[in-house]
Amino acid sequence: MTFSFLGIHRAPTMALCLSLAIVATGCASMSGGKQVAPTASLYSRLGGYDAIAAVTDDFLGGALSDPRIAPFFKGLEPRDIQRIRQHVVDQLCNATGGPCYYPGRDMKTVHAEMEINNDVWNAFTSHFNPTLAKFKVPERERNELVNIIGSLRGSIVNR
Ligand code: HEM
Repeated sequence: MTFSFLGIHRAPTMALCLSLAIVATGCASMSGGKQVAPTASLYSRLGGYDAIAAVTDDFLGGALSDPRIAPFFKGLEPRDIQRIRQHVVDQLCNATGGPCYYPGRDMKTVHAEMEINNDVWNAFTSHFNPTLAKFKVPERERNELVNIIGSLRGSIVNR
């Protein structure tokens, strides 16, 4: 399975920007030259929409290539994967304080029939930290993102 359409090749540019954005001095190239204050939303501190999309692409690329996870997505068409990817970006953008609307279904409904247990959850989320490290996301923003993902656990793990 390849997921090159997820746009992973854009990651190096974003990585640079993301790492700059987070020193609380802002990411000039991605925020139109504006400085990003430490009190700004997580969305802004991460570098905005494109940075969040790049992080999502990298994370999903790793998770969906994982043999422990891939079977859950078996049979889905590329357009389905594209929709899921877009919905995860919208969801993260929204949850971090960005100007996005999440148009997808609620997490409990989406994952209800999948029999996702703790092992599957841990396998899936194990791809998150390597992505955050690759993008040089500092501890504060890393913790905030991990908390956002962790808050979904109760709606997704159902075994
Ligand atoms: C970090 C935790 C997770 C988040 C934020 C998340 C988010 C999402 C979102 C936004 C969608 C699309 C919903 C829609 O289009 O209405 C989705 C669909 C899906 N998720 Fe998750 N998910 C998570 C964990 C998991 C896990 C652990 C699995 C199983 C390994 C999984 C398997 C799926 C599958 C197979 C779909 C496609 C459902 C379908 O449209 O048929 N997800 N997820």
